[in-house]
Amino acid sequence: MHKRDTRYVCLRIAGEGGEGVISAGELLTQVSARLGMHVATFKTFPSEIRGGMAVYQIRTGPDHVLSQGDYLDILVAFNREGYDRNIGDLTSEGVLVHDFEPDNGVPVARRGGTDYHVPMGTLAREAGSHRAKNMVALGAICELFGFPVEGLTEGVRLKFGKKSEKVVEINLRAIELGANYVRENHKISHEVQFVEGDGRPRVVLSGNDAIAFGAVAAGCRFYAGYPITPATEIMEYLARELPRVNGRMVQAEDEIASIAMCIGASFTGQKSMSATSGPGLALMSEALGLASMAEVGLVVVDVQRAGPSTGMPTKAEQGDLNLAIYGAHSTAHRVVIAPVDVEDCFYQTVNAFNIASKYQIPVIVLSEQSLGFSKASMPRPDFEDLLVYEEQYATTPTDGDTWPKVDELTVGEGYPMTPVFPRYLRHDTGISPRSIPGMPGMEFRATGLEHDEFARPRYDPPNRKAMLDKRATKFEEVRREYGEEVEVIGDDEAEVAITGWGTTAAVIRHAVTRALNDGASVKAIFPKMLSPMPDVAMRRHLHGVKRVICCEMNDTGQYANIIRHRYGVNVHAVLKDRGVPFSPGEITPYIEMAIKAQVRI
Ligand code: COA
Repeated sequence: MHKRDTRYVCLRIAGEGGEGVISAGELLTQVSARLGMHVATFKTFPSEIRGGMAVYQIRTGPDHVLSQGDYLDILVAFNREGYDRNIGDLTSEGVLVHDFEPDNGVPVARRGGTDYHVPMGTLAREAGSHRAKNMVALGAICELFGFPVEGLTEGVRLKFGKKSEKVVEINLRAIELGANYVRENHKISHEVQFVEGDGRPRVVLSGNDAIAFGAVAAGCRFYAGYPITPATEIMEYLARELPRVNGRMVQAEDEIASIAMCIGASFTGQKSMSATSGPGLALMSEALGLASMAEVGLVVVDVQRAGPSTGMPTKAEQGDLNLAIYGAHSTAHRVVIAPVDVEDCFYQTVNAFNIASKYQIPVIVLSEQSLGFSKASMPRPDFEDLLVYEEQYATTPTDGDTWPKVDELTVGEGYPMTPVFPRYLRHDTGISPRSIPGMPGMEFRATGLEHDEFARPRYDPPNRKAMLDKRATKFEEVRREYGEEVEVIGDDEAEVAITGWGTTAAVIRHAVTRALNDGASVKAIFPKMLSPMPDVAMRRHLHGVKRVICCEMNDTGQYANIIRHRYGVNVHAVLKDRGVPFSPGEITPYIEMAIKAQVRI
């Protein structure tokens, strides 16, 4: 059993939607990060605007926070439901901060641990509004755990200043009342201690913000989208930031219009992106076929949610992998990549734009609700070192003198047209010269029809075969260039491997790190690119492995099926399909079973 690292503290606030749980968590996250702690958060709430249980969780530590961990050190329960549904996650020596009066029969005295009653509602009304209950709780937390109350002032002004100065005053008063109440009524008797970090400057971003930030850094200057939970914050971020870099954000009438606008924008030379969730990606699939056929590069972010249909819009799932990879009629090549944490959201989005631009191909970035909504601290990106692919356009038509003439290029009968610019020239990488409208002598007519190297519609078998091969060559070139984009940790000779992608990979990393610290022989394999799969690297790392555990958040094992049929290995699929991410402790038993189960002869 791994020894808990008490330098990492996990605090959960739980209450009814509308009681300000999320605001309280956001403010506490800012204070923690400002104290130099590494932070990683998780929030979940019902689809309704009011009612249901809202949860905000923060895990802090002196170094990178691998995942949300398995247990709580502190539970702040705004109400009875917040207690009943979360007390089971609090460790026996954990701290409970609660609002309900002992006389309502809730067993607040627990074996071990420390309970602090704070009459949040009463103190909020004393401050001037029951809405300020969450700020009373923050004041109490600051006093209990040594956070500077003044660290909240700026955040309160930023968060509530738009409502009114009075609201700000009431909330600042509420914080003070919460802190005073603890000081005057409780003797600090708990062990839990927050550990400050190295104090290096870090930014705190949500996964959605990091994707949007990465898009702007990668040169994205056009976004078209339709709001959908849990992707909307990407559009909101770009609505604020794109105009600052002379870019445009358009809220389209639906996802079909969004992707069509992005294709048009990219066709004219603008790096373009849309963001959606599963239902929206399904609507985009036909136009993604056009982008593949016309070889127009763009980025589509799918922040997955529990589906199908409306499903559970504010809950997590990794259920769109099949749709992202195969959701097309015929062969519509697209690249699929999946960030594992908030920092990776930034860099994988830059990567996505580089691939879309260089290979003139659609790239889907697969995120999901818990990553999109979660905030985490990350080092401020070093823009000097950031590799951004600049568009390579064909130069002036004088190049045309060297381009093969039409009759040398046509494969089978051609159409009577005198094109001069071979926009789809076949080449050993499959990548053709590109121009944008307005480049004299390099005009061509883009089309969704099958076409020849001069973009002329063609229906003859030889040309069809030649162009299918061209597009496939380009896709294989991506696999060649990114084929080593596989992260492997652990014992390279291990006969048990565990693999996953996206945020599940981050939790697997936490579980495997514990297993390795306990002396287990296991390795973890994380492909960052899921289409094209990095087959060479995957086969190399799976060679000699007797058991492969695939963990993913869906109920059919979409990723496990890919690993099985591509690499012919003995796969045990560990599936979590209930709308919340894995915890490392849920994965550990499967590692232990797989190691014990293997037979040595
Ligand atoms: N004083 C004054 N106002 C306060 C406050 C305080 N102390 N604490 C919070 N508030 C305000 C917040 O500013 C927010 O107002 P806003 O909506 O104008 O921004 C509101 O109260 C809610 O507070 P917040 O902390 O953001 O959330 P919550 O913990 O109360 O939970 C939600 C409410 C987030 C669950 C709910 O509002 C929501 O958005 N539900 C999900 C909707 C959704 O995405 N559905 C999916 C559809 S497909």
